[in-house]
Amino acid sequence: MINEKIKEKIVLALDVETFEEAKNLVDELSPYVGTFKVGLQLYTGFGNEIIDYIKNKNSNFFLDVKLMDIPNTVKKASENIVLRGANFYNVHALGGLEMMKQSKEGALKAAEKIGKRPPIILAVTVLTSISQEVLNDEIEINKEVKTLAITLAKLAKKAGLDGVVASVHELGAIKKACGANFKVLCPGIRPSWSLKDDQKRIATPKNAIENGADYLVIGRAVTAAENRVEAMKKIYEEIGEVI
Ligand code: C5P
Repeated sequence: MINEKIKEKIVLALDVETFEEAKNLVDELSPYVGTFKVGLQLYTGFGNEIIDYIKNKNSNFFLDVKLMDIPNTVKKASENIVLRGANFYNVHALGGLEMMKQSKEGALKAAEKIGKRPPIILAVTVLTSISQEVLNDEIEINKEVKTLAITLAKLAKKAGLDGVVASVHELGAIKKACGANFKVLCPGIRPSWSLKDDQKRIATPKNAIENGADYLVIGRAVTAAENRVEAMKKIYEEIGEVI
């Protein structure tokens, strides 16, 4: 029996090069995965095919395309994303309050039109690829990364968005600033038995859930495992101890 409470929290990153690989992951893992995440690579390559495939399996999908443009354009794109059936999508909080508000307005309008529950809209605060030096010296924003991330999370909340994408290390500070109901989706998840890859600020699935993560992005810890179903089952066991 699949534990639905765990399943709902699992977001699998479909970071692969071909439609065939993505399809295999969906086939193999849909019993364990609440939401499949389609990012820019897959979307620009095989967006329509993979979205239809995920929807035919009755799984949720997260369109991870990090919208940022003028408010009206983001509103219209958000409408289309919801009409396409996305259960989650995201925007850059750096696009500003009005852009985020318009995104939500577009999403609500489209959800109503098709009689669907509104999607969960998450904001990206500061990309993890932006270091303190890059922020200060290249982009000339003289703030600490963490301070800026919290400011942007609060702005996303003010715009009415559902939450943010953040590492387990920032989880506590964000929940403290924005409240326990403000959702946090955490990438950088690595069970103790898996490789770190290029992720630096990692946490185990158990640790993330214990610290209040609402959703976990599971990527290579499962997709690169020799036996993917076994790897997923191990993650379920681990989370099961604390949920
Ligand atoms: O677990 P793994 O490192 O393979 O997961 C990588 C996934 O998490 C990618 O889809 C990446 O976009 C996403 N992600 C991340 N770090 C962030 C935000 C998202 O690795 N800060």
